[in-house]
This record gives sequence, structure tokens and C-alpha cells, in this order.
Amino acid sequence: MLPGCARRSAPAWPRGMGRMTLDTKPPLRALLLENIHPDATARLTKAGYAVETRKGALSEDELIAALPGVSLLGIRSRTNVTERVFAAAPDLLAVGAFCIGVNQIDLAAASHRGIAVFNAPFSNTRSVVELVIAEIISLARRLPEKNAKMHLGEWDKSASGSHEIRGRRLGIVGYGNIGAQLSVLAENLGMSVYFYDIADKLALGNAHRCGTLTELLESVETVTLHVDGRPGNSGLFGDAEFARMQPRSLFLNLSRGFVVDHPALRRNIESGHIAGAAIDVFPEEPNGNGEDFASVLRGLPNVILTPHVGGSTEEAQQDIGEFVAGKLTDYLSAGAASLSVNLPGIALPAVPGTHRLVHIHQNVPGVLASINQILASHKVNVEGQLLGTRDDIGYAITDIGTAYSDEVLAQLHAMDVTIRFRTITCD
Ligand SMILES: NC(=O)c1ccc[n+]([C@@H]2O[C@H](COP(=O)([O-])OP(=O)(O)OC[C@H]3O[C@@H](n4cnc5c(N)ncnc54)[C@H](O)[C@@H]3O)[C@@H](O)[C@H]2O)c1
Repeated sequence: MLPGCARRSAPAWPRGMGRMTLDTKPPLRALLLENIHPDATARLTKAGYAVETRKGALSEDELIAALPGVSLLGIRSRTNVTERVFAAAPDLLAVGAFCIGVNQIDLAAASHRGIAVFNAPFSNTRSVVELVIAEIISLARRLPEKNAKMHLGEWDKSASGSHEIRGRRLGIVGYGNIGAQLSVLAENLGMSVYFYDIADKLALGNAHRCGTLTELLESVETVTLHVDGRPGNSGLFGDAEFARMQPRSLFLNLSRGFVVDHPALRRNIESGHIAGAAIDVFPEEPNGNGEDFASVLRGLPNVILTPHVGGSTEEAQQDIGEFVAGKLTDYLSAGAASLSVNLPGIALPAVPGTHRLVHIHQNVPGVLASINQILASHKVNVEGQLLGTRDDIGYAITDIGTAYSDEVLAQLHAMDVTIRFRTITCD
């Protein structure tokens, strides 16, 4: 919870008034599904929420039955939060996706009902980077082959084809959160780092920025992909790109499955052009544990295949639990929407002794003027104010120092454009 702010325990607004949510008497209820890390429960409990946890996901009907009276919902990837669910959950203020992806949530429906959605986009960055480092070393030392032979009872102590990574050239495609952190760690291990990104990115350490993907491919001995999932990246890497790479290079993809042409990768490994590969993401992945895994890359030498576990560590889960729970409590206690997936990401420092009006509305001209006109007509002075917009949603936080009447709240609520409105008291 941001310091200094408390939910206002004041006037009970009659249920059924729809869009207006005045502060409810604590404890507010939080429902956490899908075995979310206990640190999330601890953090929410400490912030004063009554937390109910369930191990599994809920179906749409089960969710609808469970949500009345719940202000915060926590899910992972297997619970779908649909328009029907949002429509049946008038008390819901925010949803926390305790994971990276948010495809399971109807974000437009959430926005149009004034429900904030948060996720944890950075919590597993370090986990991915560590796996990449481990795999580069494993491939350079041909560990997959040595390990397989040992399990077959074959002793092969040859140094042929095994290399140190010190002094070798690493090419990072996509210099975002993961690519940039990898750059630092790889350089610390003595690698020379080259990177290519379509956006302007500051080179960290001694990393060399390449002007084109081709320049990168021709410069390095190991290529690792860390691009995002924009549609244009589909098929980014195929025969032409492999052909540009130096003979006997290593190749890794821990970004998105659809980025790489897997039959092309197989051909390049079989021909010996690519000396080893590590692949964590696939164009089609099984839906759950125990299901069959089909891939043209199975059965190849010096190829590490992992079931999309780049970011799957206990540390990442713990960080996700802490991070998302923090976002949820900050949003409820202070209206802070930084890093929200669907609302404008604004936040205003709390000023003790003020009341905060949190107003989610349709993004049309003149809303701020209308809010301020209502306040002025009741002689309510504005101490601080911030407006953010995102697509067709506007989000205004207004701090007022003087006491206000229920009439002010009623008028703000009655504005045609109001989607959701609540108040917070900052002590
Ligand atoms: N394997 C896993 O378990 C795992 C875990 C976390 C993230 N990921 C994936 O890793 C990828 C990177 O994650 P991130 O957090 O670093 O993302 P990010 O958004 O911070 O960085 C992606 C970078 O790629 C760049 N980019 C996009 N398309 C490009 C292209 N065609 N050529 C060059 N650069 C391009 C972007 O400009 C951006 O800088 C994402 O696809 C993410 O989904 C996988």
C-alpha cells in the first residue's frame, strides 16, 4: 500500500447504483486462484484484505458464482475472465494476472467496466537470462551429446568441438528487458556482445549495436532471439537468416515459437551449418503437463529442447506474487495504475489530509472541465489532479483538501461519461 492513504469507510452507497463504487468498510475480499505464491496472500493480508485461496482454476460459471462481494481477483493462465464474468461481478475493482500473459482476460470488457488489470511483465526476466547463459555454455561444450552418451554407457572424453565461451561473439536479437540483462551477464563472462533491435536502444557496457539483422548474423558465432510477440515477427527467422550465420554457429530461441521456421532449423542442424541449438518455445505447445509434445526438432544431436520453462523458477513465481499483489493494493489504496495493462498508467503521490477522487470515464473532450466545474460549484478546492487516457478510456485522479458532501459525489457519479468512481481518504 502506498503510504498515507486509506480506503474511505464512509457513506454506504446503495447497491445497484451501478457505476459508482464508494469505499467499502474493510476488510475487502480478495480471491486468489490457481495456486498463486503464498507471498501474495501474505502481502494482501497485511494490507487488510480477507484473502480466499483456491488451488485450481474456475470455469466461467464457477467464477460468476464466486465473485459477488470480491474486490480483487488473482488468476494465472488457466482462468478465463470473460465479458460475462465482468458483467456478473459488480464489486470487482481489479484483476491481477499473476503471470506474464493476459490473453485469458477480456481486456476491453474490463476497461469498459472500469476494472483495472495488472500483470508481472518483468518478474521472470532474470530466470530467462540465467537459462540462456546455461544453455550457451552447455551447447558450446556439447553437453547434450556427452550426457546422452554417458546414459548409454559410452565414455567419450574428447575435447573436439568443445569451446569456452570467453572471447566468443554473442548476437542478441531484441534488446528489451531480457536481451539487455543478458548483454550484461554475457559480457561479465567474457563474451563480446552484439545486438540488433528495431527500436533505439542504449548499448550497455561494451555491447556493439548492429544497424541491421544481417550485420549481426554475419558478425557473431551465437545468435539468441529475444524479440516480442508482435504479429510482424512471425517467421522472422528461416533459411535465409540461418544462411547468413557463420558456419558452426549456435542458435537459441526463448522468445516466441512462431518466430522461427523449425523445419529450416532442422535442415541447418542436419547439414552441420548450425552446431547446436536451444529451443524453449514452439509454434504449437501442448495445453498441459503429460500431453504429447510433437516437434520436427526432436531427436537431433546437440539440441536442447525445454517445455517453455525459461521464466519458470520458484524465484520468479515469488517475485510475481509480490509484484502483482503490490500493484493491486496500490491501486485500491491510492488509485495508482502504473503498469496497468488496460488503464492509463498514472499515479499521484499521496498528500496526507486530502481526499482522493478516482474517476474512470469515457475518453471524450471536456471531462476534466466538467469534474472541476462540479467541484467549483460546491466550493471544493483541487489540491492536485492528473488525467491519463488510453484508447476510449480516461482516468482522472483528483485530490481535494476540504470536506465534501455526498451531493458532490452524486453529481460526479451522475456524469454521463462516468464508468466507475470511488473515493479514498489520505491520512
Ligand atoms: N521462454 C520463456 O519462458 C519466456 C519468459 C519471459 C518472456 N519470454 C519472451 O521473451 C521475449 C522478450 O521478452 P522481454 O521482456 O525482453 O520483452 P521486451 O518487450 O522488453 O523486449 C522485446 C524487444 O524486442 C524488440 N524487437 C521486436 N521485434 C524485433 C525484431 N523483429 N527485430 C529486432 N528487435 C525486435 C523490441 O523493440 C524490444 O526491445 C518476449 O517474446 C517474451 O514473451 C519468454
